Amino acid sequence: MIAPLPDAAAARSLARLRPAVAEDAHRLLEHGDAVGFLARLDLWFADVHVPVSSLYGEQCDGLVGQLLQVALAATVARPADLRDVDRRREVDPRWYQHQRMVGYVAYTDRFAGTLEKLSGRLDHLAELGVTYLHLMPLLKPREGANDGGYAVADYRAVDPRVGTMDDLAKLAAELRGRDMSLCVDLVLNHTAREHPWARGWLAGDPEYADFYHAYPDRTMPDAYEATVNDVFPDQAPGSFTWVDEAGDNGAWVWTSFFPYQWDLNWDNPRVFAAVLETILWLANRGIEIFRLDAVPFMGKRLGTSCMNQPEVHDIVQAMHALTKIAAPAVVFKAEAIVAPDDLVAYLGGHHRYRPECELAYHNQLMVMLWSSLATKDARLAVQSLRRLRPIPAETSWATYVRCHDDIGWAVGDVDARAVGYDPPAHRDFLNAFYSGRYPMSFARGALFGENPRSGDARISGSAAALCGISEAKERGDAAALDAGIRRLVLLHAVTLGWGGVPLLYMGDELAQGNDASYRADPALAEDNRWMHRPYFDDSAAARRHDPGTVEGRVFSWFRALVRTRAGLSALHAAGESAVLPTDSPHVLAWRRRHPRSGHFVGLVNFSNESTTVDVRVLAGLGRLDTVLASDGPPPLENGRLRLAGLSFVWLAEE
Ligand code: GLC
Repeated sequence: MIAPLPDAAAARSLARLRPAVAEDAHRLLEHGDAVGFLARLDLWFADVHVPVSSLYGEQCDGLVGQLLQVALAATVARPADLRDVDRRREVDPRWYQHQRMVGYVAYTDRFAGTLEKLSGRLDHLAELGVTYLHLMPLLKPREGANDGGYAVADYRAVDPRVGTMDDLAKLAAELRGRDMSLCVDLVLNHTAREHPWARGWLAGDPEYADFYHAYPDRTMPDAYEATVNDVFPDQAPGSFTWVDEAGDNGAWVWTSFFPYQWDLNWDNPRVFAAVLETILWLANRGIEIFRLDAVPFMGKRLGTSCMNQPEVHDIVQAMHALTKIAAPAVVFKAEAIVAPDDLVAYLGGHHRYRPECELAYHNQLMVMLWSSLATKDARLAVQSLRRLRPIPAETSWATYVRCHDDIGWAVGDVDARAVGYDPPAHRDFLNAFYSGRYPMSFARGALFGENPRSGDARISGSAAALCGISEAKERGDAAALDAGIRRLVLLHAVTLGWGGVPLLYMGDELAQGNDASYRADPALAEDNRWMHRPYFDDSAAARRHDPGTVEGRVFSWFRALVRTRAGLSALHAAGESAVLPTDSPHVLAWRRRHPRSGHFVGLVNFSNESTTVDVRVLAGLGRLDTVLASDGPPPLENGRLRLAGLSFVWLAEE
């Protein structure tokens, strides 16, 4: 049966293309697999055709037909065990929304040395309750400086320092055996200048003509730069790099990030086809989740910031739908670290829902957590999170406290003003606070990406360093250490209780501090994000069961949060988180609802002092019991709930 299509042109195109595809599918696949492939074709066709025609023109039958051949070839090549995963996911298509999902994010070399040795770390992950492992960039990067692996020289090979593609496929299979899914970065916005596509383009190979954006003089680069922001203003100012060998007499190549990362030209349908082949080839090695790196930058429009342009959404939607046709087990996670108003679109939340990515980083929640921790005040978080549009029910946030990148203060001007903050002054305060310059600050971070022109900056530093654990250890202050641990746990009580896929960042479960070793490596020394990309500390891990140590305290809280969460169906991501207004400025409270299990409420107090909230905040939410709390069930005093300083409470309906 053919599913109803929203668009008549798509329906006509499908009618034209389908007979030939059906014939090929039945010739190349076993009957059941062909039926499945064609059912997916019918289901997803409009989500391919509509964006492809808006990107590359209405007469796109030829191109769409070619892309469907790429999808079919990938299905034909898909190993049997991955087809089994496909079948399971087709029965349970919302698998990534389950409350048992917990991610762990690590650099292969820093976590385990190599992919082969990573097997030896899986017990650690299982102990934490991890079901999703995101390995930081591991495809073969260029030699020398490579932006932490985000300058890929070969998408079909693994960084030889950590192993081979076979090792990766083997690890993926081992993870599947343990009910864990593998997530890998896919850099779509750019390749390394050493990538064969870039080499082919430079050599004038017609296959790679127009693969990159290049201009013979400064006219267009200047015009674009008038409205484009620098990503690395101190290390790599400007968005274009002069390349002597390009064109007849050299050219300015678009490089949003570092000069050796060349932005792909997505106006060229051949780029689209080449990336699709790459994704599907990698999916057939066992990658289940693709983290789409730096997606907002893929569309360029003069006079704009060249971020979040409509083309970006068309590209991702079409890529997603084609991936679903070929490898339905696979899901996409958007790395779109953008303003709250631009964020929800990456989950398909447009004026009408259009499937795009299943997952997206909840950058706004992350920023608001750190802002609230510094001010001991949750009002800005309440304001901004209440204003955030709801996300489509089929999608999930990836919530997180820390990741490998710097923290950029995506504080909306409207939100800041609504709670009486001057937006630039608040961002300056957060930078001063977390770089430790602010008097009384407990944080031990550092400024990243200072922009001398705008005065903007972002923050580097590990979660433990930003929470005050490092500073307290330096001073040997037990009370301060206690407060630091409480902060780290409180932040995770939000990300693990929010709904969606919480991502734990390697080392945070052991409260690992900053790592200064990067300064000795010339390829890393200029980029202080490496301070929060530590090596896994085995001696710290050995203390994880000792309740008298920082590691033991933090690790046991992480485990308790994960274990409790897995049993709470209200934390299934299909429900929505709604911020509850309380009458204490220090408290962030949110509720979730699940039709079967009823309500869940989380409360955190960002102040060091205890505070109270009117218990009527819980009115109408059923009979709530404490399921986990830093200080036990909160006492009720004259109609007010008392929350200890830096505490969290999880309540749920029985
Ligand atoms: C993403 C990565 C970041 C990298 C950039 C360029 O934002 O998270 O680490 O520098 O993309 O690839």
